[in-house]
Order: sequence, then structure tokens, then C-alpha cells
Amino acid sequence: MQFRDRVVWITGASSGIGAALAKALASRGAELILSGRRMDALEAVKASCLELGRIDILLLPFEATDFEALPAIVVKAQQWKGHIDVLINNAGVSQRSLVVDSDMSVYRRIMDIDYFSPVMLTKLVLPGMIAQGGGLIAVTSSLAGKIGSKMRSGYCSAKHALHGFYDSLRAEVYADNIRVSIILPGYVQSNVSLYALTGDGGTHGVMDAGQAGAISADAAAARILRQLEKEREEIYVGTGAEMLAPWLKRFFPGLLSRFLRKQKVPGGAGTP
Ligand SMILES: NC(=O)c1ccc[n+]([C@@H]2O[C@H](COP(=O)([O-])OP(=O)(O)OC[C@H]3O[C@@H](n4cnc5c(N)ncnc54)[C@H](OP(=O)(O)O)[C@@H]3O)[C@@H](O)[C@H]2O)c1
Repeated sequence: MQFRDRVVWITGASSGIGAALAKALASRGAELILSGRRMDALEAVKASCLELGRIDILLLPFEATDFEALPAIVVKAQQWKGHIDVLINNAGVSQRSLVVDSDMSVYRRIMDIDYFSPVMLTKLVLPGMIAQGGGLIAVTSSLAGKIGSKMRSGYCSAKHALHGFYDSLRAEVYADNIRVSIILPGYVQSNVSLYALTGDGGTHGVMDAGQAGAISADAAAARILRQLEKEREEIYVGTGAEMLAPWLKRFFPGLLSRFLRKQKVPGGAGTP
């Protein structure tokens, strides 16, 4: 798919990978719907996008877990240009707590933000895409969607669940000319570790070494868009040693398992 003049809706567009995707799409001439919770941050992303492309942008802030509000949000998105060509479900939250220390409410919140919210948005957008004869639905998973690691049990569960849903969806809607891509970043510079949930539902508040030393969100977005243009089913993004993990899991699972159990907490690298 080429993005020029396409209506692209990005969630989690107020920072990190989503903001970088917005800028890269603005350069390609896409019409953008940008979502997140923080209006000031969305305004700043919009200003950067308008420097890069003569495009229309709708800011559509919402709380991902406000499930009662989502149908009306989707109607607003659809009414803006009359259709949505591309939905990029990118909003997400990570975790920094051991199973033994994690309150059940933390698991529920992570599943709500990282799994149920993209599932509901996708279900709400889907009938319009089928009626218009096609589209592209992407979701940002993680290497954590393939590998479990310490301190990320809820996050890894939610990201694994995305693969089950979106792989199934891909098979169901292929004949409707709708393509489904799953994005699997390794470490990418962003705020993800700062806002990661701790066991009591607080925020981690630390820029972890994994993210600090990683590729930029702009570099990640450039690769993601090139792969989305090719309608790749799975898009791996990253340059660090962590990118070997899915390959190790497939061919040397015992070796990976030994490596993962030796990771130190709280300093252990974990999955992105
Ligand atoms: N960076 C990495 O190393 C990495 C690796 C693998 C996967 N990922 C995935 O990449 C995606 C983007 O994350 P990022 O790394 O760019 O982190 P980020 O900078 O923290 O961005 C997260 C985005 O999600 C939005 N968001 C979070 N909670 C939300 C909620 N309850 N309601 C609505 N929006 C919410 C945030 O918007 P507001 O704050 O404005 O609400 C923000 O725009 C996530 O799905 C993450 O799991 C990141």
C-alpha cells in the first residue's frame, strides 16, 4: 500500500514510535488522525507533521480503556473524511514487576490497554473497511509477543494475545482486501519504560538502559513504513542483540530459556 492521500489513524501518536510514524506518514502525504491522551503532546506532534507535509490532521484524544466511549470515537474518525484506510493500533503500556509482586489490577489494566482496546477499535473499524473494499490494519506488538521474560508477565501475555487475534483476523479478511500487519519492535528509544506499570499500579519512572541505548523512534518508523508498504505480515524492528531472541526460541529454545532465567532483577534486560 502507498500512503499518499490515505486516511491513516494512529493510536499512541503523542510520543515515541507513534509520533515518529505520524511524522514519517506526513512526509509521505497521508491524511492523519492522531490519538493519545495528552492533547498538548498531540498538538506538538501535529505541528511537526505540518512542517513535513501539506496534509490534513485530526486530533482525536481518548483514553484507550474507556470502552463505552470508543464507538463514538470511531464514528468521529470515520466521519472526518468519510472513511479510514489504515488503522495503526500502537498505544501501549509496559510493565516492571515480578509475578509475585503484581496486583491483579495491573494485569487487567495492561490487558485492557494493550489487548482489549486495539481489539475493540479494530472490530469497530472493520465493517467500514469491508464496505469500502479494503484497508490495512496494523498493531504494535513487541518481541515480548514472542518471548516471555522476567518483570513483564502481564505485558508479554497481552502482546502474545495480539498475535492470536491478528493472525486469525488476517486469515478472515484477506478476501475482503484487508491486510493485517503485526509490528515487533526490539528496543526503541521512547517513553515506554518511564510509564511502565509497577506491581501496585504505579509507574516505573526510569529510562531503562535498553531504551536509552536503542535505535531512535524515527529510524524505527522509517523501517516500519517501508515494511507496511510491502504489506508484510510480521515486521521486526531493531538492531540490538535482542533481535536474535525469536530465532533462538525457534531453533535453540533451551539455550534462550537458560539465558532468560539468568537475567538479574531488577536490572535484567527483559523483553522490550
Ligand atoms: N520502545 C520500545 O522499546 C518498544 C518495544 C516493543 C514494543 N513497543 C510498543 O510500541 C508501542 C508504542 O510505545 P512507545 O515505545 O512509543 O512508548 P511511549 O513513548 O510511551 O508511547 C506510548 C503511547 O501510547 C499511548 N497510551 C498509553 N497508555 C494509553 C492509554 N491508557 N490511553 C490512550 N493512549 C495511551 C501514549 O499516549 P498518552 O501518554 O498521550 O496517553 C503514547 O502515545 C507500544 O505498544 C509498546 O508496547 C515499544
